Amino acid sequence: MPRRPGRYASSSVAGLFADAAGGEALASGIHLWRGVLDERAYLDGIAVIAAAAPFRSMMTPGGRPMSVAMSNCGALGWISDAAGYRYSTLDPASGRPWPAIPEAWLADAARLATGSGYPDFRPDACLINRYAVGARMTAHQDRNEADFSQPIVSLSLGLPATFAFHGPSRTGRATTVELASGDALVWGGEARLFYHAVRPVRAGSHPLAGAFRYNITMRRAAHQ
Ligand code: SIN
Ligand code: FE2
Repeated sequence: MPRRPGRYASSSVAGLFADAAGGEALASGIHLWRGVLDERAYLDGIAVIAAAAPFRSMMTPGGRPMSVAMSNCGALGWISDAAGYRYSTLDPASGRPWPAIPEAWLADAARLATGSGYPDFRPDACLINRYAVGARMTAHQDRNEADFSQPIVSLSLGLPATFAFHGPSRTGRATTVELASGDALVWGGEARLFYHAVRPVRAGSHPLAGAFRYNITMRRAAHQ
């Protein structure tokens, strides 16, 4: 897992993940890993996936377009339309299976999950969110998966964003964390069903991603 130059400059990559305490525990079940991702490689990977499964604005079950554009890779892709939120083996835009999750992403997800205390993580779903300036995600739970013993591994690239954990209730007081490009957030256990949100992305320009924020969320959607 190559790291962002200038951060963790003196620690080897293996060393970073050999220590389970290398991530910062924000709360029970929630681990933040700062600056651990190879940003350029991830953004290149996103471009390859988006060439096969282009970003699109999905409709909420209530009929409103989401401000975040989405694509997927993996055996199962998360979709939303008038029929509801669910996982699908096929991209509804093309009728074809989603592209595979890149091996390097799976390797990073396994190391991050293991380092956060979730050694058995085997994702089969990878949602890619693209936030233009002003796009946001209102408070929700990730609960379309079959097995909540599996954690969520969430990777941030491009423009920074404020991520909010509301806890077990949608209206719970939020704890916020600033996520920068190259950061990874892992949550599971008692936090697995916590409500969470992303505040509107602020205007800016990232040297590699321009005026966008990307988020890659790897999850286990089906039973193992
Ligand atoms: C989500 O909850 O699906 C989005 C998380 C993020 O963009 O950081
Ligand atoms: Fe989510």
